[in-house]
Amino acid sequence: MITRPPAFHPASTAAAPEADARAADRPAGFPAPSAFAKHWRLDPETVFLNHGSYGACPAPVLEAQRRIRDRMEAEPVRFFMIDLEKLADAARARIARFIGVRDPQSLALTPNATIAVATVIRNTHLQPGDEVLVNDHEYMSCISEFHRHAGGQGYDVKCAEVPFPVASPDEIFEAVMAQVTARTKLALLSEITSPTAIVFPIPRLVRALKDRGVTVLVDGAHTPGQRSLDIESLGADYYAGNLHKWVSAPKGSAFLWVAPEHQKGFEPLALSSRAHIERADRSRFNALFDYVGTNDYSPVLAAPEAIDFLASLLPGGWDELTARNHELVIEGRNLICDALGVEPPAPDDMLASMASIIIPGLGLTSGGIKPGGYEDPLQARLVEHHRVQVPVWSLPSKGHRILRISAQLYNSREQYAYLAEALKRELAAE
Ligand SMILES: Cc1ncc(COP(=O)(O)O)c(C=O)c1O
Repeated sequence: MITRPPAFHPASTAAAPEADARAADRPAGFPAPSAFAKHWRLDPETVFLNHGSYGACPAPVLEAQRRIRDRMEAEPVRFFMIDLEKLADAARARIARFIGVRDPQSLALTPNATIAVATVIRNTHLQPGDEVLVNDHEYMSCISEFHRHAGGQGYDVKCAEVPFPVASPDEIFEAVMAQVTARTKLALLSEITSPTAIVFPIPRLVRALKDRGVTVLVDGAHTPGQRSLDIESLGADYYAGNLHKWVSAPKGSAFLWVAPEHQKGFEPLALSSRAHIERADRSRFNALFDYVGTNDYSPVLAAPEAIDFLASLLPGGWDELTARNHELVIEGRNLICDALGVEPPAPDDMLASMASIIIPGLGLTSGGIKPGGYEDPLQARLVEHHRVQVPVWSLPSKGHRILRISAQLYNSREQYAYLAEALKRELAAE
């Protein structure tokens, strides 16, 4: 007789009592999220104030992704050889409308912004003597990739110091433009910066840099879903954006827009088994990027569901959602600044759905992950003692210790008030 192993029910036995025990043992004053939290699968025992780092995907969107995966697993050969390009075209058309791209064919769908930016860097043809201009608010993966590439090609990477605290977009504009020389060939600019959460004056910077003959790569990792976008009208050369952050698409969904004049000869980091095939029906740019070897393409194929689902949650759609997140993050930032007796480091209109605050203490500039698993032990204490997930890190060029909050639909005002009290206590104990 064949004995079958017992069925595996992951959540049915152990997890439920554990969840009950955690709920019964909540810290005093533990706040509820907003009513929208029911659409997400976030842990109800965590005050989640870091949508910015990895996003969080609502359940109906994960369900749409599962349907795509089911289709892939039902007939993998048909999926990869026949369906994938058609599905990519459909996803691209919806994403393009959302981000202000009238020619969807100029979009490459990528797993994340890191790969999108690295792809641009690897497609540049810079010479010894040339300069790439970055600044001290840029994301480290992009800076590291530039340094690695520059080491091989022999060009220089120059870093502009952008002020923080910052009083106006003019200060950013001037700090960047002051570093442009006749040698500057390419500039990397975040539209919304990662450590400091500032909205850079991108349209103005792009115009001025292009006037000086500089190629511009905009890192919009945080922009889709935080601000409305009209990418083509910016006049940049390249625009990289994430969909898994503020559009709340499944993780592994992003895009790279490449201006038409740069698409010829522009290639992904890896060539697939189909790269040698001449296609009359499709641009080489699309053919190369739509299939880069066997992979799970379902995150970006499900991104249109996220665009439509989030828009459906409020009568005013994305405009109302972004305005609401902005108001909430400003309110949260002000609560925290008042509690700690510190000044907001940027004007309200230079922020979108995130805000960074310079908090007391030294930014740990040595880098790396500390005991407790986070860059700053304060972050670990906020998780451990208060069940708040919020990043604490440094801006090494200034020595600041920075706390960055995010506001997504599932967050509530009470969560920021709770964080403010938790911070006061943890900082007093340092
Ligand atoms: C400005 C910026 N660029 C690029 C990235 C990289 O995004 P990803 O990890 O999705 O590749 C991030 C991530 O937080 C970012 O903040």
